[in-house]
Order: sequence, then C-alpha cells, then structure tokens
Amino acid sequence: MATGKHSPVPELTHGDVREADGDRLIAVADLPPSGVTEVRTAQLGVLAVGLADGRPFAVSNVCRHQFAKLGRGQVRDGCLECPWHRARYDVQSGAMVRGPQGRIFGFGPYSKTVQTAANAAFRLKTHPVAVRDGAIVLTS
Ligand code: FES
Repeated sequence: MATGKHSPVPELTHGDVREADGDRLIAVADLPPSGVTEVRTAQLGVLAVGLADGRPFAVSNVCRHQFAKLGRGQVRDGCLECPWHRARYDVQSGAMVRGPQGRIFGFGPYSKTVQTAANAAFRLKTHPVAVRDGAIVLTS
C-alpha cells in the first residue's frame, strides 16, 4: 500500500525508535515535546521512555487496550497517555488510571471494564531508571 507525501493514507509508523547505548536509554535533552519516546534496548526490547512530573520512567510500550505504541503518545497531567484512545497510565506503578476515551471506546461501562481488566492482570511492566549525567539510564 502506498503511503507518504502524496498519499491520502497517513503513515502508520514514524520510524523514530531510538537505540539505547547499553543501559543509557536517551539524553533528557533529546526527548521530544511529548515527553516520551520509543527506545529499543538489547535486553528488554522497545520501551516507552520519558519524564513525568520531572521523574524518569521506562515502561512497556504496548497499550493494554488495543496495543498502540505508548512511546508515540504523550505525557499529560503526570500520566502517559495512549496516542489512540487516550487511556492514561501511572508510569511508576504501571496502572491504567483512566480507560479509553472517545465516542465509541469512551462509553463509561466499557472504558471502566478495560481499566479494571488492565489493572487486574495486565499492568504495564515498569523498569527502574534514574537520570545520570543528563540521560535516563536503566538501574538494574
Ligand atoms: S489503544 Fe490505547 S487506549 Fe486504545
């Protein structure tokens, strides 16, 4: 399928996954304005890495709703927000703190059920990180 500059079909990927250098995930200065990005690591695969309320985080990159890439979302109100239906996650605990939103997926009972299921069995995996020498690094 043709995509790109002259296609009415939007690009499905942006090809902007950063490469970690060992435990060094990304320089804080290189984070995009969204506050989060995708970083490929040798040991943990691709993580969503960023800063929320000034604290670094590294979590699994896949939304528990319909598998959007969370590293392509944004940090809002101290939470990681999914780019597709705006579910929000606490990046320290991995809990979904708000279910999917929107005309279809924001239906109250549906949204709450997704949130409850995600928190019962599918919290985001969180990885310990710190800021050292201006970069977010894995600490274990
Ligand atoms: S895929 Fe993340 S909220 Fe729907």
